[in-house]
Amino acid sequence: MHIESRTFLITGAASGLGAACAERLVEGGGRVVLCDLSDAIDPLAERLGDAAIAVRADITSGEQMQSAVEAAVTHGGEQGLAGVIHCAGVVSVAKLVDRHGQPADLESYARTVQINLVGTFNVMRLAAAAMANNAAGEDGERGVIINTASVAAFDGQVGQCAYSASKAGVVGMSLPAARELSRHGIRVMAIAPGVFETPMMGDIPDDAVSALAQAVPFPKRLGKPLEFARLAEQIIVNPMLNGEVIRLDGGIRMQ
Ligand SMILES: NC(=O)c1ccc[n+]([C@@H]2O[C@H](COP(=O)([O-])OP(=O)(O)OC[C@H]3O[C@@H](n4cnc5c(N)ncnc54)[C@H](O)[C@@H]3O)[C@@H](O)[C@H]2O)c1
Repeated sequence: MHIESRTFLITGAASGLGAACAERLVEGGGRVVLCDLSDAIDPLAERLGDAAIAVRADITSGEQMQSAVEAAVTHGGEQGLAGVIHCAGVVSVAKLVDRHGQPADLESYARTVQINLVGTFNVMRLAAAAMANNAAGEDGERGVIINTASVAAFDGQVGQCAYSASKAGVVGMSLPAARELSRHGIRVMAIAPGVFETPMMGDIPDDAVSALAQAVPFPKRLGKPLEFARLAEQIIVNPMLNGEVIRLDGGIRMQ
């Protein structure tokens, strides 16, 4: 899959990892559809010029995501939608039993799973259905889907039952989705980031952030969104990457 003049749908594009992917793909000559709930996709689309359009959509809504996918197919012209980088997601922290002996809020758990896991399935199913109509390229390739998991899928910390479960679900879907979509020439990959310098980390106190940075074997710092975007770019262009989850974490194993 080439990036130049191909069109990619990027969810969570208003911020952090998604925004970095949008910038990187446009730098590489690609076209992007910036999808997010946040209005911050508008100034980014303006900055990226004709290659970019902004579409507001909630990834958990079938109707809104269908419209976003249709906009992406149209933006792609004759070649349609070439790929998806799905970065939209939320983080949540809650103990099963809090320090006052109160059980965790069930709705809050379900909300995290709804956005991170059900939202990922929603984006995949709609994008895959659209990409299955593409003309086949080299090796019969029609598209690529890159989902975003987290190292919390493998080594979740205290308070991360909801977040870890939602991301473990994203990991679990990678292989069956890749196997199923192989007959359409669509690859499915996931990236499991460690700790990255994005607005999602904004609520964490500075001393906790520097402790996290120190916990990374090498390099001893948070990941940069551009480093995530570079891996997404490599996944797009390397057809042998399929059905796998890649940790991008400087070797960190969460305690
Ligand atoms: N930053 C990290 O350290 C880190 C680590 C591991 C995994 N991740 C994952 O990477 C992804 C991107 O995170 P980020 O750090 O860029 O966070 P971010 O908060 O900067 O960006 C997430 C974006 O998703 C959007 N979003 C949230 N819910 C949405 C919905 N229902 N519909 C549409 N858009 C929605 C938000 O508006 C936001 O712009 C997330 O899935 C996150 O769980 C991040």
